[in-house]
Amino acid sequence: MSVDKIKDLQDRLEGIQQGGGADRIGKQHKSGKLTARERINLLMDPASFVEIDAFVKHRCTEFGMETMEAPAEGVVTGYGTVDGRLVYVYAQDFTVVGGSLGEMHAKKICKVLDLALKMGAPVVGMNDSGGARIQEGVDALSGYGQIFYRNTIASGVIPQISVIMGPCAGGAVYSPALTDFVFMVDKTSQMFITGPQVIKAVTGEEVSAEELGGAMTHNRTSGVAHFISPDDKACIEEIKRLLSFLPSNNLETAPVVLCEDDLNRMDEALNSIIPNSPNKPYDMKEIIRSIVDNGDFFEVQPYYAMNIITGFARINGSSIGIIANQPKVLAGCLDINASDKAGRFIRTCDAFNVPILNLVDVPGFLPGTNQEYGGIIRHGAKMLYAYSEATVPIVTLIVRKAYGGAYLAMCSKDLGADMVYAWPMAEIAVMGPDGAANIIFKKDIEGAENPAAARAEKIQEYKDKFATPYIAASRGFVDDVIEPATTRQRLANAFEMLSSKRESRPSKKHGNLPV
Ligand code: HXC
Repeated sequence: MSVDKIKDLQDRLEGIQQGGGADRIGKQHKSGKLTARERINLLMDPASFVEIDAFVKHRCTEFGMETMEAPAEGVVTGYGTVDGRLVYVYAQDFTVVGGSLGEMHAKKICKVLDLALKMGAPVVGMNDSGGARIQEGVDALSGYGQIFYRNTIASGVIPQISVIMGPCAGGAVYSPALTDFVFMVDKTSQMFITGPQVIKAVTGEEVSAEELGGAMTHNRTSGVAHFISPDDKACIEEIKRLLSFLPSNNLETAPVVLCEDDLNRMDEALNSIIPNSPNKPYDMKEIIRSIVDNGDFFEVQPYYAMNIITGFARINGSSIGIIANQPKVLAGCLDINASDKAGRFIRTCDAFNVPILNLVDVPGFLPGTNQEYGGIIRHGAKMLYAYSEATVPIVTLIVRKAYGGAYLAMCSKDLGADMVYAWPMAEIAVMGPDGAANIIFKKDIEGAENPAAARAEKIQEYKDKFATPYIAASRGFVDDVIEPATTRQRLANAFEMLSSKRESRPSKKHGNLPV
């Protein structure tokens, strides 16, 4: 008798494992996608995945659903370990009713989110779904609402990672948007609020699904996604890499790895990396790679607002978040998109106790009506806000230009940088020498016999006097002027010294970030 029951259990489990069946699995593979279970197995350490709620069934009796079997309710949920650390996961199964989300499907996801929050462990959600299960109507909508609510409550407590590995349409896009990081797979994933047909019907505009909401669109144009990968397997490797830089929750710090890169390593090349001409660009990523352990830099949003660089690296084996101007793009100016990208990243680092390094070479905010009408004042304020509220250790290194409001927005001493260093080539002033000379020496220049020569002379005079780090250093706004070659050593020392930093803010319900 008990043997029959065990056989029955085995048969049931085997049926559930088959998902939507061989044909639909074949179709999934043919379209270049893995199944939900294959994805989870790749993410988790071998044999560590424990499934929960495999036997959950939908309760819908409308439109033929009463006879429709939906193994695992179209979403595989559970927990396991990634690099030995507890991680919760859910993966929508497109082979089962198109991975569509109904009442019980949503309940499974909510259970995983609740467990992850209580246990203080990251959650990875793999999205591959036709959206709200049409047959379930408002029950499906309610399911989404319950997920959004939990995403928000868990925000800043546990890392939440969304992975788009198929369609993600309509209101379904808002769960990923509420989480910390969004991964997309090239060519097989799309996100949009309204699809191409609806757009054509409403506005007459014709656009393909890929152009509208494909992985590159959201990585390069909208900034909704943070990462793009060529296929599911590569994407899952990137997720593991990201997790390695993050703690499991807001009360912990990221795992420290053994550092085999000499902390006293000098790099003479840095002494000559800044071009003699102040308008000549160079690649800020070369400086980053020179400073961090083993030159290993994990860039976040590499295709969006490329005038600012954000990403994770390690110094002495400990995670840091880097925010750096990129002189190669828009001369490294701050604009609306760069402010959004940096503001969000600063808050992510602060929420998860990842110390911040700012590398500054910024000529100012990007001028223009586009920027003003688009609300650069409001967007730029996000960076000021994010730095000012951050309590993690913050080190700022000014390598060349630091002008005007952008000097503050890249986290000067005043906005909470614990240590500020400058290279000898740094220029810290209200504005660039050309603009400054035109204003303060206007009368001298216009009244001169040779205005062009007078102008050049006054620019030089201003440069010699103000375009240096020494005035800022003389006021204590810069803690030290350092030789570029010694940067790794100095930063390693600073982060070590700051590692016991404790700072608190006045108690409040929450701040009012300019959005
Ligand atoms: C129920 C669905 C479904 C859905 C797909 N299926 N989406 N069932 N509800 N939302 C089923 C299909 O009937 C089909 O079942 C199977 O899943 C696979 O779908 P196909 O259409 O055969 O696959 P494909 O050709 O790859 O097209 C995928 C797709 C398409 C582009 C996602 O299925 C589609 O357009 N679905 C509807 C998308 C949609 O409008 N969703 C509602 C969005 S609004 P069989 O049995 O034939 O295999 C929304 C509101 C949320 O989500 C609001 C939250 C606040």
